[in-house]
Amino acid sequence: MMKRIVVIGAGHMGTAIILGLLQKHCADLCVVDPSESRRNILNERHGLKVAKSPENIGDDDIVVLAIPPQTFSTFAKGAYLRSDRTGLVISVMAGVTTATISNLLATNQVIRAIPNTPSEIFQGMTVFCASSSTNAKNLAIAEDVLQSFGKTLRVMDESLIDHATALCGGGPAFVAYFANAMQDFAMQSGFNHTDAALMVGQVLRGTADLLDVTGKSATQICNEVMTPQGTTERGIFHFMENNLELIVRSGLAKSSARSRELGQFFNVKTRGQHARPK
Ligand SMILES: NC(=O)c1ccc[n+]([C@@H]2O[C@H](COP(=O)([O-])OP(=O)(O)OC[C@H]3O[C@@H](n4cnc5c(N)ncnc54)[C@H](OP(=O)(O)O)[C@@H]3O)[C@@H](O)[C@H]2O)c1
Repeated sequence: MMKRIVVIGAGHMGTAIILGLLQKHCADLCVVDPSESRRNILNERHGLKVAKSPENIGDDDIVVLAIPPQTFSTFAKGAYLRSDRTGLVISVMAGVTTATISNLLATNQVIRAIPNTPSEIFQGMTVFCASSSTNAKNLAIAEDVLQSFGKTLRVMDESLIDHATALCGGGPAFVAYFANAMQDFAMQSGFNHTDAALMVGQVLRGTADLLDVTGKSATQICNEVMTPQGTTERGIFHFMENNLELIVRSGLAKSSARSRELGQFFNVKTRGQHARPK
């Protein structure tokens, strides 16, 4: 990675990306964030160049946009990027399409990516797509950047990114929601917090590894635990009677719809209006 990388937005996602790039020994890294305390931490801990606003972005710099979608219009309005820039823009903003980014930033080298918070420990899952004009060199650079904090999957159909936003972007929260219910059950049953966290964490990790290492399907893993007339079967039957699978699927569908909604907002508004999605 020879070019300078400018990460804009040093919140949860931006910081995970920065840590991944540092792990890759990315030498020329600059971070833009409005928060003075966040800038100081990044500068003091990692010796990074930091800036309050992105005034000095070069035409050839790689820009990683990790700001909330709701602030993108204002950012674009700032016109920090020159219209004839050749550098790559990698956006991790939920919902905002490559077409919107290309239009509002007047650039055609755009990657739209959805990472997730396990990126913080280099265990991220990032699904991404490229605008049709993105060249092979920039595509390779983007993969290199995104793989610095986990695994990647490239999709050719951009509409899949909304579903990936639900599955992968939101996935850790959905799994943690289930994990929290398991942990609450453990504590109500008499385990202390530490032991409850140990059990639930190891069950999640073990199941994830079992899926990964053995290549068994989720259904097979489920069936292998469900001894006929046994304890797990009783629990799964209860989930089935109460349509838990349907609830999970509809929750994911709602999340995916919200991603589309965020994106459509920019499409509905005419170019240059720079309004803000709710
Ligand atoms: N969190 C996730 O799991 C996840 C997963 C996939 C994608 N994403 C996407 O990643 C992006 C960031 O999410 P996040 O969870 O990291 O949010 P976050 O923790 O709120 O971080 C956003 C950061 O961007 C800063 N910021 C806002 N406007 C800016 C501007 N114009 N220039 C520079 N910095 C600016 C914010 O500063 P202030 O707080 O001072 O405003 C904050 O530090 C979002 O677009 C989100 O859709 C997040």
